[in-house]
Amino acid sequence: MTDLELGLLEPLPWDTENFGFGVARWTGGELDATALRAAEQSGRTAGIRLVYVNLRPDQPAAERALEQVGATLVDRKTNFAKALDPATRWPAEVQEFAGAAPTAALVELALASGVRSRYLVDPKMPRACFETLYRLWIARSVARQIADTVLVVPGAAGEDGMVTLKVEDGHVARIGLIAVSAGCRGQGVGGKLLRAAEAWAVGRGCDRMEVITQGDNQQAVALYTRGGYTVDWTKHVWHWWLGQ
Ligand SMILES: CC(C)(COP(=O)(O)OP(=O)(O)OC[C@H]1O[C@@H](n2cnc3c(N)ncnc32)[C@H](O)[C@@H]1OP(=O)(O)O)[C@@H](O)C(=O)NCCC(=O)NCCS
Repeated sequence: MTDLELGLLEPLPWDTENFGFGVARWTGGELDATALRAAEQSGRTAGIRLVYVNLRPDQPAAERALEQVGATLVDRKTNFAKALDPATRWPAEVQEFAGAAPTAALVELALASGVRSRYLVDPKMPRACFETLYRLWIARSVARQIADTVLVVPGAAGEDGMVTLKVEDGHVARIGLIAVSAGCRGQGVGGKLLRAAEAWAVGRGCDRMEVITQGDNQQAVALYTRGGYTVDWTKHVWHWWLGQ
């Protein structure tokens, strides 16, 4: 299975291997009914079941064509960004996580972080795929494979909150996962995690913080907006299940 054979679709080996069915991404330029028909045929022949399509928010004709083939808009993916203040102070309640593997509480927080994830909100996506993705995400973050640090707020029964962070391009810090346990929300824990993340980033020489969330994740959007973040870009992500 190669790009050439598939034409408009690019196979995604990681998703395919971890989800147990063929997954690809739309790579074609013009997205219309004719291109979708061609992509469906080559995708099905190549064993693709799910296609991710990322669109700019100003492509109504492409969105209509996707609706007509039964695809679903599953995420208004939003990148928030903020210029960092070098004077940001680290809140005393937040610590770097030093364990070699995630605790049970950290795994729960990772799963909570995906509450509005397209892997969970798409009813056709098996729940096991969502769990696999978020369990691997926290395990590989704690192992510092896909994150540079994990910050936590310790609590009586494990961690009350956590945030994972990575430095990109030498000067941009990116939040991966962030969540506060259900019983501790609305008490400023999320705000403290965000401030600690910013202080950590300043300490690593970063001048900018970015975080992707779902546009309809009101709690997350409120947290970032209150923290001085603004929308950098938005993409509409569609899931197109072939042959459904
Ligand atoms: C998003 C999330 C991390 C925010 O964490 P949080 O600890 O609830 O955030 P805060 O307490 O700092 O702020 C939340 C609210 O509590 C209020 N608050 C802050 N400090 C407070 C205090 N001491 N007493 C009472 N309320 C307080 C804030 O004003 C805010 O209210 P508002 O949104 O109505 O304006 C949390 O809701 C969460 O884990 N959600 C699920 C996972 C998730 O969506 N993660 C984001 C993935 S991108």
